[in-house]
Amino acid sequence: MGEYSALLADSVLRHKAWLAENAARAETQLASKVKSEFIANMSHELRTPLNTVIGFAKLLGEQKERRWQDHEVVEYAELIRDAATHLLAVINDILDISKMQSGKYTLDAREVELDEILHVALESFKTNAVDVGVVLGSKLESDLPVVKGDSAKLRQIFSNLISNAIRFTPPGGSVTVEARTLPDGGAAVSVRDTGVGMTREEIAVALTPFAQVDASLSRWREGAGLGLPIAKALVQLHGGQFEIRSAKSLGTEVAVTLPSRFDVSAANGETVHADGHGDKR
Ligand SMILES: Nc1ncnc2c1ncn2[C@@H]1O[C@H](COP(=O)(O)OP(=O)(O)O)[C@@H](O)[C@H]1O
Ligand SMILES: [Mg+2]
Repeated sequence: MGEYSALLADSVLRHKAWLAENAARAETQLASKVKSEFIANMSHELRTPLNTVIGFAKLLGEQKERRWQDHEVVEYAELIRDAATHLLAVINDILDISKMQSGKYTLDAREVELDEILHVALESFKTNAVDVGVVLGSKLESDLPVVKGDSAKLRQIFSNLISNAIRFTPPGGSVTVEARTLPDGGAAVSVRDTGVGMTREEIAVALTPFAQVDASLSRWREGAGLGLPIAKALVQLHGGQFEIRSAKSLGTEVAVTLPSRFDVSAANGETVHADGHGDKR
């Protein structure tokens, strides 16, 4: 009997080791798949604007032979600036999400007037919305709470959401930003649009860092597809919740909650990985 239980224990141990080994292998394989897709997509994202910069800088350098006119010089300089600005944004996003994934991202958390953040974000998209024929409206409760957060990051979150909402809403549609105080003293903000919407699968893809970057489409002006994963990770770093509700061709609503500034767990030593799994350090 003793021998049997020893054998059993031995085989259980071996089975456990086998399971652990398999899990580790699957994880490594997934990581390396994500990594190689990431490298393929990112090299496109980085190369396209860089080639623009190099190409037009080269043309400008040939001024002697080509004798560009003033308006051509200005146009090429603008193309270079646009491409370089975009490149900087992509690089910043990549660095941010990498830091978030490794738990090394820290917020500069202070008391922030949510009301002010939302007004600034709304204001900055006013002309953009008018230009593309989308009605940008807001329903902000008066007396919105002061929240504990990083004002630059909060602005980044809402700018991202509003910019997406406008971009994925055809002319004639509307984008509405709503905010109210929650019973526990926190805040709920939603950015709703009447745009193209997403299926459940599309939402999952959009929230996975790098997953939606489609190298076959030359859409580099629209960002690297890291906006939503970063926005979600930032909300979680603030101790809040981030949810996307959407229906194809009906529209999308992104609902964000931010905890009360009196909530001690909020934005206080909490590390959140960009995949959404938080862990306390
Ligand atoms: N409001 C929205 N309506 C419909 N689709 C959206 C909306 N917001 C985001 N998406 C989809 O999710 C993708 C990822 O968005 P995001 O992470 O902000 O990256 P990017 O803006 O660079 O494309 C978008 O390319 C789009 O397909
Ligand atoms: Mg975006």
